[in-house]
Amino acid sequence: MTSKVRTGILISGRGSNMRSLIAAASDPAFPAEIALVISNAGNAEGLKFAAAAGIATKIIPHKAFATREEFDRAVNIAFEVADIDIVCLAGFMRILSDWFARKWEGRLVNIHPSLLPLFKGTHVHEQVLHAGVRVSGCTVHFVVPELDAGPIIAQAAVPVEVGDTPETLAARVLVEEHKLYPAALKMLAEGRVKLKNGQAVFAP
Ligand code: GAR
Repeated sequence: MTSKVRTGILISGRGSNMRSLIAAASDPAFPAEIALVISNAGNAEGLKFAAAAGIATKIIPHKAFATREEFDRAVNIAFEVADIDIVCLAGFMRILSDWFARKWEGRLVNIHPSLLPLFKGTHVHEQVLHAGVRVSGCTVHFVVPELDAGPIIAQAAVPVEVGDTPETLAARVLVEEHKLYPAALKMLAEGRVKLKNGQAVFAP
């Protein structure tokens, strides 16, 4: 049996996307294993779930570091010590330094709750409703130094319903996030998508 791709996850809160990755990885046929979950917030709900699932967890409080890059270097060391191949951002609400994005280039992915390149940043569902688009969704993309701008690996769409609030729309998008992220991690772990010359290149 070939060894599984060691995957690290960065979270800041609830961790429902993290849970979907852990659930997918519990299938013996899944090509990746979740080897370490790191949170910048000590009270992140997702940490308890990961620990209960027998996964190594670590809290690295960003406030303990003078600069963004010093925090990122501590995170990098933790992933290197754990022999991590791929890092998934799952509701990680810190902007990573250019240094970290370059260091993990092609091995660092994020899930964002809109159809990128539309509606980057925060308050995404508010932005969507304000714009009046009738379709939204979620995107898994490679992380590059520019925020929410990396090459797209996978997307899923949902309708925006009349009367939606940010909360109802977020809930509809989240259902798709939980399917999309494991599927994207599987593709990446199997080498079926790679970052080459700033583009996502897919195996035929
Ligand atoms: C998810 O909707 C994720 O797409 C979003 O935060 C939520 C985290 O939920 N991420 C971003 O907005 C990143 N910019 P979770 O902690 O339950 O996975």
